[in-house]
Amino acid sequence: MTHADTMDVELLVLNAGELVTLSRGSLPRKGAEMNELSIIEDGGIAVNDGVIVDIGRSSDIRANYTSNIMIDAGGDCVLPGFVDPHTHLIYAGSRENELALKLEGKTYLEILAQGGGILRTMKATRGASDDVLIDETVGRMDRMLEFGTTTAEAKTGYALDPEGELRLLRLLKRIDREHPLDLVTTYLGAHVVPPEYKDRSDDYIDALIGTFDVIEQEQLASFCDVFCEKGVFTAEQGKRLLEAAADHGMRPKAHIDEIETIGGADMAADIRAVSAEHLLASTDDGIRSLAEAGTVGVLLPGTSFTLMKGYANARKMIESGLPIALATDLNPNCWTESMQFIIALACMNMRMTPAEALAAATINAAFAIGEQEHVGSLEVGKRADILVLDAPNHVHIPYHVGVNLVRTVIKGGRIVVHQGRRTQ
Ligand code: NIG
Ligand code: FE
Repeated sequence: MTHADTMDVELLVLNAGELVTLSRGSLPRKGAEMNELSIIEDGGIAVNDGVIVDIGRSSDIRANYTSNIMIDAGGDCVLPGFVDPHTHLIYAGSRENELALKLEGKTYLEILAQGGGILRTMKATRGASDDVLIDETVGRMDRMLEFGTTTAEAKTGYALDPEGELRLLRLLKRIDREHPLDLVTTYLGAHVVPPEYKDRSDDYIDALIGTFDVIEQEQLASFCDVFCEKGVFTAEQGKRLLEAAADHGMRPKAHIDEIETIGGADMAADIRAVSAEHLLASTDDGIRSLAEAGTVGVLLPGTSFTLMKGYANARKMIESGLPIALATDLNPNCWTESMQFIIALACMNMRMTPAEALAAATINAAFAIGEQEHVGSLEVGKRADILVLDAPNHVHIPYHVGVNLVRTVIKGGRIVVHQGRRTQ
């Protein structure tokens, strides 16, 4: 205490012209709720021990708290750090060569069938040393942080052999300990059927299940995921894998309806998946089943953009009461670290409002990865993961595009990006 009536805290954020809190509710936002941002005008935040201890009008915060570190938002927009709930963060190499193929009209599954796509990245990843994999992954995480992502999900899926997939999980855990961006890990050994198991996909599923004891013992993954797609894994195989994973403490997620509809939505609803991801080809019935199951729909408009294909029917999903989250899908086919870009795509191509897109990129994204108690909104008791924009309001995110509007990133009460650059 400096004065009898003020408390000295770790950090203050003051003068937020628009303080987007996204507070309220113990369920993901759906329907009309997705438009509610719970904005405080001229807002302020007091942070101590890495968590938010008070939030309200700037004048009240100034009257009740003092701090050596004061961030003056200068009338600009302040909001929670973005949560990116679907990334394929850990891989080696790149695939810019495929752009020419895509422009010639080759489809994603054709490129994969010719040994490109995921299989090409598999070769690069298997051949990379730990140091190279860490370096490339950390480079992407640094950029994510600069663009305002403070928590992200990270999937494995480019080693594609049971031991190699464990290696990727262990590397992700190691990186997570050292990097300010928080990671939630997902085991996606079932990303495609590796060449060693050609025509023996059930044996591959068995081999993956064979590693679940180790994953559980070492607490390597919070979620398990599977790519259910024509020519990849069937919905039945997905179910078998995800049920076995649940017995080992990994909650279910699934890549479904990305290119074709093969029963993934019913399967995901049936096992009450925490999230179902992509949903490009989902039917009305599939959307309804997911909504009834309490699953979060994770939409990835960056993938539609890079595949030059149609977008998910977000309006239909919102109308049907399916809570929507947005993610980058960061992977060598869709390489972007920017949730701001994804928000712009969601508005311009899926007709989501800026408010819906922002709720999808923060609080609903937190629900999609089970982190809603800690992140995704600015509320007392939550982690102080806070962005200050170089813009007066949240509508600028999809409006002023192709640039980084994030000026300051506070992660757990520490300033990690200042004037758009990493500080630590
Ligand atoms: O979510 N669909 C499967 N996995 C990724 C793509 C991975 C890749 O092409 O390397 C996705 O789009
Ligand atoms: Fe993906």
